[in-house]
Amino acid sequence: MSTIDTGGSIRGRDRFVYVTAALAALNGLLFGFDTGIISGAFLYIKQTFEMSPLVRGIVVSGAMAGAAAGAALGGKLADEIGRRRLILLGAGVFFVGSFTMAVAPNVPVLVAGRLIDGVAIGFASIVGPLYISEIAPPKIRGALTSLNQLMVTVGILVSYFVNYAFADAGAWRLMLGAGTVPAVVLAIGMLKMPESPRWLFERGRREEAREVLERTRQGGVDEELTGIEETVAEQSAAGLGDLLAPWLRPALIVGLGLAVFQQVTGINAVMYYAPTVLESTGFGSTTSILATVGIGLINVLMTVVAIAVIDRVGRRALLLVGVSGMVVTLAILGGVFYLPGFSGALGWFATGSLMLYVAFFAIGLGPVFWLLISEIYPLEARGTAMGLVTVANWGANLAVSLTFPILTANVGTSVTFWLFGGFSAAALAFTYYFVPETKGRSLEAIEADLRENVGEHVRGGVDAVPDADD
Ligand code: BGC
Repeated sequence: MSTIDTGGSIRGRDRFVYVTAALAALNGLLFGFDTGIISGAFLYIKQTFEMSPLVRGIVVSGAMAGAAAGAALGGKLADEIGRRRLILLGAGVFFVGSFTMAVAPNVPVLVAGRLIDGVAIGFASIVGPLYISEIAPPKIRGALTSLNQLMVTVGILVSYFVNYAFADAGAWRLMLGAGTVPAVVLAIGMLKMPESPRWLFERGRREEAREVLERTRQGGVDEELTGIEETVAEQSAAGLGDLLAPWLRPALIVGLGLAVFQQVTGINAVMYYAPTVLESTGFGSTTSILATVGIGLINVLMTVVAIAVIDRVGRRALLLVGVSGMVVTLAILGGVFYLPGFSGALGWFATGSLMLYVAFFAIGLGPVFWLLISEIYPLEARGTAMGLVTVANWGANLAVSLTFPILTANVGTSVTFWLFGGFSAAALAFTYYFVPETKGRSLEAIEADLRENVGEHVRGGVDAVPDADD
């Protein structure tokens, strides 16, 4: 097994964990980069190839279809071949996908490249957080869950910068091809990283698991091995069918509901199509891409704010504030596009409203969804449930990114944003009635709550008593 020399010292071990975390974070970065890059590239692809609204949707959403498949396969593959090898495989697939898109002579090859790239995005969305949570010392494990979402937003921002750098040249092939660079860095980095101790242990490779822990921990290796043994024994149980058990259903509804609402409220219509939308206000291509960089920056900054306050103000409060803000800003956005063009000002109004909308997403639904789904499932069902919910998230993403060009072409941009606003209002009601507060509660307490019905008590917080059962 390949390793890096940690020097055996405490400093060496710390450095090793930081390097590993930084590399694992590259998965999130690639996920963000490869989803965001299409936004700017698309402006110029449209000029190279003649495409109907449907074909435009297919070019953008091909990656999301691939990601849904990649996420569905990723969990199984991570168990079969190991986390490390799946990350390596993913880096290879990222490379092939980016390269194929960069040299695509026609739309079908471009779509094939998007699909391939998407599979790698799906792998990354599953195995990145999984690997990091298994290799990280327990004391920093929680923080890393949210760090992954932060890296996704940073990846999107980096892709917007790359778009801007190549905008004047209109070089969409270079924009899409740029994804090969982080893929190579990820592959080279992972060659030197160890396999996850949890996976080694599950495979009966106890001594290797111990070796990895000794290199990455400052003590307590025996206790941690015992802990792994216990959780592995508990964990094996649940399959897809078990998720339908009556007591698990509420948690499944919460996860699936938030997965779908996170997407049908329109975030990726903005993340992938903002330059296209802004161009329609009369902005030039470069200005549209520059304004999109601003939107990406707000996304990163507000995610940082959310992570900073999430354990103090709680998940429900952030969701309720964030989703309410989305309802209002989407209503305004629809209004902005409803007005007959008031020339130059329209673009800036639209940019401002889009920034506000993204700010409200980034403070709530963005990070809170990913955090909640890592908290609300009992251990024995966590892997299966998170896999299913992640696939649902990509499926809903696919539906939105495929239909957005069709919707704007047929019912107009205003109505499309109002539709997202309507879904946001539904998301608000869903959050209010169904989403439990998990702040500062043990996973066992959350589980006990969810075993009861979803209703009054889940809104009450820590001490609330269930008033009915099913
Ligand atoms: C969503 C992605 C979205 C990103 C934007 C994530 O939480 O799952 O679909 O592109 O946020 O920052």
